[in-house]
Amino acid sequence: MSISKPRGTNDILPEDSLKWQYIEDVTRDVCVRYNYEEIRTPIFENTNLFRRGIGEATDIVEKEMYTFNDKGGRSVTLRPEGTASVVRAFLEHKIYGQAQPTKYFYYGPMFRYERPQSGRYRQFHQMGVEVLGTDSPAIDAEVISLGLHILTELGLSDLEVHLNSVGCPECREKYREKLRNYFEDDLEELCSDCQSRYDRNPLRILDCKNKGCQEYTVDSPEIIDSLCKECANHFEEVQSYLSSLDIDYIIDSNLVRGLDYYTKTAFEIMYTGLGAQDTIFGGGRYDGLAEEIGDRDIPGIGFAMGMERIILALEEQNIDLPLTTDLDLFITTIGQRAQETAFEYLYQLRRAGFKVEMDYLDRSVKGQMKCADRTNAQYSIILGDNELEKRTATIRNMETGEEIEIKLDNLVEEMNELIV
Ligand code: HAM
Repeated sequence: MSISKPRGTNDILPEDSLKWQYIEDVTRDVCVRYNYEEIRTPIFENTNLFRRGIGEATDIVEKEMYTFNDKGGRSVTLRPEGTASVVRAFLEHKIYGQAQPTKYFYYGPMFRYERPQSGRYRQFHQMGVEVLGTDSPAIDAEVISLGLHILTELGLSDLEVHLNSVGCPECREKYREKLRNYFEDDLEELCSDCQSRYDRNPLRILDCKNKGCQEYTVDSPEIIDSLCKECANHFEEVQSYLSSLDIDYIIDSNLVRGLDYYTKTAFEIMYTGLGAQDTIFGGGRYDGLAEEIGDRDIPGIGFAMGMERIILALEEQNIDLPLTTDLDLFITTIGQRAQETAFEYLYQLRRAGFKVEMDYLDRSVKGQMKCADRTNAQYSIILGDNELEKRTATIRNMETGEEIEIKLDNLVEEMNELIV
């Protein structure tokens, strides 16, 4: 019986892998321009990190974590997201003792036991950024603009920035009470998930995907009207920084995000062409998270974008990335001796920086020429007894058909002349 990949996972085959590399290169390049540095944290962590960080009453912690006991009996969890790990690393290495703010970016696989569908997987990949050590609203705008910059640099358009403030624990508690009062009479009409959210976290009723529940949220109180003075000012300033960059946004009072650590600014970027899973990236401020994880009062903000969703959006918008797999040179050989000589030249050429290939399957000359074509080689060369005897060969430009005769011993130098 053959074994297939686990449900909700993907193999990234070379053709797709090139797209991934391109996206990673673009994001790395943009992040470096904004002075962010790369951080890599473990793929699994102590389960308590996510319980405390993301929140016990969230879908992620309640239903979606890949948690198991290791052979030493410790409960560990495959990371469902990157923020808690980055904050843990920041605290563990006492980075707060250095000049602030600290600006990180990261890539990597994340794991959530969700019901798979297009754009939603059990192993998916995020590119994210986190900024620690400042609560300046300018940084909120920088983080949002950085995310948008990456997506537009990739060629994506028709993106919607949704923005909200979820306040601080004080104003949120007041808002929770308002929501409970509002939903009290219609509680029976809400789905069973929302009924349990009512007590534990009524804000989550606002982003329930159930159409029936959504009807009841239309006239619900908006958090913006419950913000304390500090949170309201912060929100105003974030908006004015965004406007100064000409970034359009939609204030979305139902945007509450699925993780409990958020405070003040919350945002998402959507591309409606993606259907049900239309959020390409989400993030926000989490000024209480470092306190929760490591008893330190350090503000933070960040976002993460789903790599798979970026690729789906690029496909949906028919954007061709400038990818190239072309070879510099293909060496066609005739006979054993030519094969051995070509093998040595390949090594020399590769060490000199060229992308070169030969045939390993004893194909006919015609078959090898086809290979040269298929691999989009820029140049090809044929080596046979004749060439070896005279120590000369002909390099052919596969596009123009132009040929030049060279001394075989000068092959590397000649290639250096041809390919700049
Ligand atoms: P999140 O909204 O849970 O936030 O995930 C961020 C992005 O990851 C989503 O917008 C989506 O593109 C992608 N994503 C999430 N779940 C899946 C899935 N099952 N399959 C495919 N893609 C998925 C966070 O993870 C926060 N850590 C973001 C953040 C960083 N907040 C502050 N800093």
